[in-house]
Amino acid sequence: MDEILVRGGRKLTGTIAANGSKNAGLPILAATLLADGEYHIKNIPNLSDIRTMIKLLRTIGTEAEFTDHELRITTKKIKNHEAPYELVKIMRASIYALGPLLARCGQAKVSFPGGCALGARPIDYHLEALHKLGVTIQIKHGYIYAKTKGLKGSEIFFENKTVGATANVLMAAVLAEGTTVIENAACEPEISGLAEFLNKMGAQIDGHGTEIITVHGVKELHPADYSLIPDRIEVGTLLVAGAITNGKITVTNCIPQHSGIVLNKLRDIGYTVETQENSITIYNKGKKYPVEISTNPYPAFPTDLQPLFAALLSTIEGKSIINENIFSDRFMYISELQRLGADIKLSGNMISINGGNKLSGAPVMAPDIRAAAALITAALAADGETKISRVYHLDRGYEYFENKLASLGADIERIETDALY
Ligand code: UD1
Repeated sequence: MDEILVRGGRKLTGTIAANGSKNAGLPILAATLLADGEYHIKNIPNLSDIRTMIKLLRTIGTEAEFTDHELRITTKKIKNHEAPYELVKIMRASIYALGPLLARCGQAKVSFPGGCALGARPIDYHLEALHKLGVTIQIKHGYIYAKTKGLKGSEIFFENKTVGATANVLMAAVLAEGTTVIENAACEPEISGLAEFLNKMGAQIDGHGTEIITVHGVKELHPADYSLIPDRIEVGTLLVAGAITNGKITVTNCIPQHSGIVLNKLRDIGYTVETQENSITIYNKGKKYPVEISTNPYPAFPTDLQPLFAALLSTIEGKSIINENIFSDRFMYISELQRLGADIKLSGNMISINGGNKLSGAPVMAPDIRAAAALITAALAADGETKISRVYHLDRGYEYFENKLASLGADIERIETDALY
């Protein structure tokens, strides 16, 4: 069980590269189950969630070699249709095995994911949509048993936008007979990344990046090579880290258009944000203002950056408001930020932040991936030492985060501990 120790107060300066996107990588890795042969995927972040997905693919029957952000996967005959509890309980995205296994083998057994630190997180949209494609589903002994005699294209309307179910349906519909139309589809860049990869494999997907995606089913797919898009959530996290220390940093290897509203909010607060073709620079010039933020599906403000902005706005004088509209329980980190001196009040799915108190270091515990990053970011601005425990959450979504911050001048280190949590 590692901990991260931060001694706050240093300004971050310099240039840092973002990694490839975890949330684009996870469904793309699952999609390699759709055709036998060799795949070469580049710009893969070295994260525990990615390694869990590779483990899952190996249990299903693929060979994988992962070195230096490149992954070579050889999919052969699938020997096992199961995503076991041991893997699903540590990474919900194991549910991405469902669509490809059904498309490829006509059956799948996937552990039913439970709740998580963000709340209940049901999977009804995944199951209802797959049912419309001709899948029969039974839930027994904590597992989803799904079967089909042949997937058939259908019209699917999602009541609310959902990244995961849109991805699962895409991965099933590509090999279905006939045409599938997904209405109110997720428009996230990670969905477009998946659709581009599937099209490189021979799929016929139109309209990705919009709310209506059309999939013309094909009889078979072939392997393809691909390079993952940059991680826009890591980009936003690094920018907030630069901002909270009043430093000046440039994040490279990114697509500024994927961060539009996030950059606008940073500008609204008062930071200077300059974009170049593949990089973003942020620095502090002049007065700062509180802001109001509402999380919503892309291209609106991403829920994954909500805890990061709560940390940042705690340091900005005045009253800021954040409405969380995706995961209503995504506020477990607040009591930890309060331990650092943040003045935050929770009411329903809204927090109001009375910003401007000087934060002061204290021991805190990370409840989830983004909260871990938010607590570390707050610690950069706090007086004295902050020790963040449960950093295994951080390692699920950020590659060598402490090394990146240290290279920008932060006083931060990882310490191994025998502490039991
Ligand atoms: C993905 C991201 C996560 C991000 C989230 C929203 C990955 C691995 N994770 O999660 O980082 O925070 O998108 O951008 O890419 N819902 C249902 N029933 C369902 C599915 C979803 O009610 O069957 C609800 C969810 O509880 C949530 C909303 O729909 O309130 C959106 O969830 P969804 O977009 O599916 O999130 P994930 O794919 O789980």
